[in-house]
Amino acid sequence: MSQASIEVRDLVVRYGAVVAVRGVTFTVAPGEHLTLLGPSGCGKTTTLRAIAGLERPTSGEIRIGGSPVFSSAPAVNVPAERRGLSMVFQSYAIWPHMTVFDNVAYGLRVRRLPETEVTTRVREALDLVQLGDLGARSASKLSGGQQQRVALARAFVFSPSVLLFDEPLSNLDAKLRVPRAPSWTRSRASRTRVVTSASGRLRTRRPYATLSNTLMWGQIAYD
Ligand SMILES: Nc1ncnc2c1ncn2[C@@H]1O[C@H](COP(=O)(O)OP(=O)(O)OP(=O)(O)O)[C@@H](O)[C@H]1O
Ligand SMILES: [Mg+2]
Repeated sequence: MSQASIEVRDLVVRYGAVVAVRGVTFTVAPGEHLTLLGPSGCGKTTTLRAIAGLERPTSGEIRIGGSPVFSSAPAVNVPAERRGLSMVFQSYAIWPHMTVFDNVAYGLRVRRLPETEVTTRVREALDLVQLGDLGARSASKLSGGQQQRVALARAFVFSPSVLLFDEPLSNLDAKLRVPRAPSWTRSRASRTRVVTSASGRLRTRRPYATLSNTLMWGQIAYD
């Protein structure tokens, strides 16, 4: 296995009688962007949550940068906050009572970064998602696509080595999803490993992805 990748091997996640993920294997190298495609309920969110450390898999192995963060045998389970990754959730969990800027700054302020550094990093993240002009806007006054980009900026602001982005089962126009061929996959993320999920037509590869896998009923159907 290579040193600096996300490596998922034979991942199984069960919820009682439901087997949400049944033996998924893939690798994502630095600078690569994998999209997990597939219909609703096929296990995309569960796979991302398992990588993030928010779901305890039933069996299998997950390595980040060559080190196991989860393994069933021998038993390893590194807590989410020590995995060095950011996850954007299907519901963006944006605070409507805050401005766009404060939403993105929140996690840095909680970690008590100096305000000058907070400002620099937040501006950089907002520019990356093309929201540089909207920092002062109330987050309650944004379009769906803009909210999604705020959530993305909030993940980028930490310069994570792994970015997990759970795209919504969305009624949004495709053009409003993470906007066209986003510059972020090329610039900032040149060493970031990115995994996104997307429900939608099978084998519809996203323009920003370098790799794609299609899940069907918890298993990889095509890659
Ligand atoms: N906490 C849970 N308890 C029981 N079953 C669950 C739980 N979470 C998810 N599931 C089931 O696991 C399967 C996979 O769910 P998952 O959320 O990973 O699908 P998904 O591919 O992300 O779907 P969508 O495109 O609708 O977001 C589904 O059958 C779902 O009902
Ligand atoms: Mg999902």
